[in-house]
Amino acid sequence: MEKIRIRVNGNEVEVSPDKTVLQVLKELGIHVPVLCHYEPLMPQGSCRICVIEDRGVLKTACTTPVEPNMDIKTDTPSVINSRKLVLKLLFSERNHYCMYCEVTGECELQDLGYEFGLDHFEFPTYERRFPVDNSHDFIMIDHNRCVLCRRCVRACSEIAGHYVLGEMERGIDTMIIADMNLPLGSSSCVSCGLCAQVCPTGTIIDKRASYLGRELQSDIIYSNCDLCPVGCGLEIYKKKGANFIIKIYGDWNSDVSYGVLCKVGRFLSLYDNKERVKGIRLKDEFGYRRIHEDDLLSLIKSKLNNAIAYVDGSLFNEELELIRELFKDKVYSIYPTESPIPTNINLKDLDNGSFFVVIGVDLNREYGTVGSFVKRNVIGKKAKLMVVDKGFNSLAKIADYVFNIKDLGLALDILKKEKEIIVIYKSLSKDEGKILESLSNARFLHLPLETNTVGLQKLRIKHDKVSAENVFIFGRNLEGIRDLPIENSFTLIFTPYENNQLYKGDVIVGVNDGFEREGTFYNLEGKKLRKEKVLKPAYDVIDLKTFLSYVLGKTEKVS
Ligand code: FES
Repeated sequence: MEKIRIRVNGNEVEVSPDKTVLQVLKELGIHVPVLCHYEPLMPQGSCRICVIEDRGVLKTACTTPVEPNMDIKTDTPSVINSRKLVLKLLFSERNHYCMYCEVTGECELQDLGYEFGLDHFEFPTYERRFPVDNSHDFIMIDHNRCVLCRRCVRACSEIAGHYVLGEMERGIDTMIIADMNLPLGSSSCVSCGLCAQVCPTGTIIDKRASYLGRELQSDIIYSNCDLCPVGCGLEIYKKKGANFIIKIYGDWNSDVSYGVLCKVGRFLSLYDNKERVKGIRLKDEFGYRRIHEDDLLSLIKSKLNNAIAYVDGSLFNEELELIRELFKDKVYSIYPTESPIPTNINLKDLDNGSFFVVIGVDLNREYGTVGSFVKRNVIGKKAKLMVVDKGFNSLAKIADYVFNIKDLGLALDILKKEKEIIVIYKSLSKDEGKILESLSNARFLHLPLETNTVGLQKLRIKHDKVSAENVFIFGRNLEGIRDLPIENSFTLIFTPYENNQLYKGDVIVGVNDGFEREGTFYNLEGKKLRKEKVLKPAYDVIDLKTFLSYVLGKTEKVS
């Protein structure tokens, strides 16, 4: 692209014509304050903090494209005075008494106040009171802190695809609202939490993170969520010197989720209060008694002959490989691992989809990030959507077509007419698979049952029900034990969470999980992702990978 010439603060520069003034100034290393602007969102130009002067006219840098012969000045008295006036008015409009605000110390409005040397309120302040909405499980909205930048509204629609937040009224009466002005907790909000991540002030806050600490007091760790096979990118704020996580943000640089998270990855992973299995227990005639690690090791050695292993898809590749090494080819998956039609599309490609077929899964409830990708294209870019399910599916209200799964054959006429369709499915019967495979215009995204189902596929660990004298069971989700033929076996169960099925075990061993564990897994696209260890285990549990390595004689230390 041919460059154009402009002047910036008296210097001639050549720049690309497809940029905004803000982008050009940033590339030149010239600081321009912003407030409503937020890089992943479409520029809006509402706050006017970023004004610059071009040939005597004040313009917003974030929304003005560069054009030939511009003469941009960023530090004239009129630029500085205009920015200051905007800031003084913003500070006066609602309640911005920073010392009483939860986000003081990491508020972008407060930072601007310091940058422009505001040391007092010049105009009457806080004349109107606005409501505080504490109806939501994870998020609180204090409208008194709102600067109406609408970052939350844009993030909720453009990025997360939920289109829950909007606004009502005008001028100083403007309010950010959910749906048709419902309390957030009663609205159609799916708790992805992106609004709280992009809010520049203390308006929308993550309740759990409140008062736990500031970003400056945090170690930031980049990782991937291992609670479903999407594997969203996480930006984890761990309190420095402490063993807890303050909050989790979506990682904008993730090449899986591109900043999006669902309720599970952002909130539930930190609220986890499932009861943990602690220590090592051996069943005898009186019930279970605690035994030492050394006793467990000798027991394992005596039980490895005539032994098989069952695993679930929560295990990382490294753990699965060690289990494979220990049990050779006698490793079976507790749950199905097959993809009826293999995935041949990336999550990123969903943004170019023009017709989505979602089968047997409610993407507002499961695989939420995939739901965001679909919804932002269906609602935002007018892509078509067909929902095929057995019963209620909350995506149906935005769908162009809704079919019962038993009528899938009837949908074929519609699907064949489309140039290209993207089929997203969780499970399919053989017949349904055949119908869909006959479509030459279709690409497929399989939503596997478990986090590392693709890892199980790659290691050729298949779902089967096999009995043996000694059975070792490893995994997080062990409800499936009820279907395994283990009544006559000596059974050793390695798991992080209590479950009624565990009491079929002769030995129960507590293992690490969540942010206590590290390793790699393959997500639904087949990308190898890494989960980092962030916390020390708070319980008496073994590190499964280290323990298996020790049993195999690969390490000298057991934990
Ligand atoms: Fe440009 Fe708000 S940052 S108008």
